[in-house]
Amino acid sequence: MRDQQTIEKLVAAGKTPFYLFDEATLANRIEHVRSLMPEGTRICYAMKANSFILDAASRASNLIEVCSPGELETCRALGVPDELLVISGVYKEPALMRELIASKSAVHRYTAESVSQFELLEEAARETGACVPILLRLTSGNQFGMDASDLRRILDEQRDGKHVRICGIQYFSGTQKRSAKRIRRELSLLDKLIAELADDGIVIDELEYGTGIPVDYCEPDETAAAKADRAFLEGLADALAQMDFSGTKILEIGRGIAACCGTYVTRVVDTKANKGNHYAITDGGKHQLVYYGQTLALRPPVAHFLPDRSGEGTTTWTICGALCTAGDTLVAQVALDDLQVGDCVVFPNAGAYSMTEGMSLFLSRDLPRIYLKSASGTVTLVRDRMETSAVNTPAPLN
Ligand SMILES: Cc1ncc(COP(=O)(O)O)c(C=O)c1O
Repeated sequence: MRDQQTIEKLVAAGKTPFYLFDEATLANRIEHVRSLMPEGTRICYAMKANSFILDAASRASNLIEVCSPGELETCRALGVPDELLVISGVYKEPALMRELIASKSAVHRYTAESVSQFELLEEAARETGACVPILLRLTSGNQFGMDASDLRRILDEQRDGKHVRICGIQYFSGTQKRSAKRIRRELSLLDKLIAELADDGIVIDELEYGTGIPVDYCEPDETAAAKADRAFLEGLADALAQMDFSGTKILEIGRGIAACCGTYVTRVVDTKANKGNHYAITDGGKHQLVYYGQTLALRPPVAHFLPDRSGEGTTTWTICGALCTAGDTLVAQVALDDLQVGDCVVFPNAGAYSMTEGMSLFLSRDLPRIYLKSASGTVTLVRDRMETSAVNTPAPLN
């Protein structure tokens, strides 16, 4: 188990549930992914996956994708330079865009997700005499991005644009992409579009591509999981290398770099046998552990037990969280010995989305503590347990 000693110490201190994010694991993962990609490929960390690792991620990756005013605030609070920021997102508050552009912020790129978003950026730049660097987002067939025809028209009209510099194309079609085949198909469509634009005399310099690298939360064999991950990354690298496009390739990644650095720990607070089934209730739950895209009912997620209760596996347990819903099952039907109140259940690969995509306001339960482990091994509490009842309590304003 990764970080076992640190986790045991935190567990002994008695405070659960919590997340532990390991910055060295994160930095190594970013370097590993980059090292497998074609020379010159850059990594853009999509901070929506986990904002608590932003400091380490901003040092290890090349760029940071920011999708909301709140994410921008976090970047500012941590001193992430504007030069690293790709201001993205399907809704960009006009006032904030105007403010950023008027302040002559050195933001690396703005994405335009629609014609009107492009016009907003262009107008804000014109008002202040600035020139903004833009990536046009191509849609994959949902509410994000714009059609190729709109993208082409903007590119055509802006050949000599004074206030916008169109640097390239952004494309993201989804997370947890299972097959390298799908990546190949997408990159070859992008390649085709870029070639068609070149035929019209429009040169695309950059491609920012959301890879949707998958994470297998259920594979208990670490060697098999690492092998599958490497095969996927090699497939991605090969598909990138096969492209005719020779400009800068930037990979926008959240889950595929953040998941592995995080661990979620929750404690058994009650045990019972109902109608012959053994249940353990924990102080955490599904609102704090989100494993998107996994059929967890069919394949249990990887979970370790402290102390280790794997033994002979004499009893079949279902591990549940503290929410008032039958859906709050963390691990179904796991064979263990002697699970006791006070034992801890440790979930690896919880570094992406768990602390941000969970229904954390349900039942007004507290938000878990968050610890960061630095590259030197120092463990710091970076968010204490936080009550959510205040958010769920009406407070008349007069
Ligand atoms: C535009 C964009 N880029 C990148 C990502 C990160 O995706 P993933 O976590 O699958 O790497 C997302 C996730 O929603 C996204 O919307």
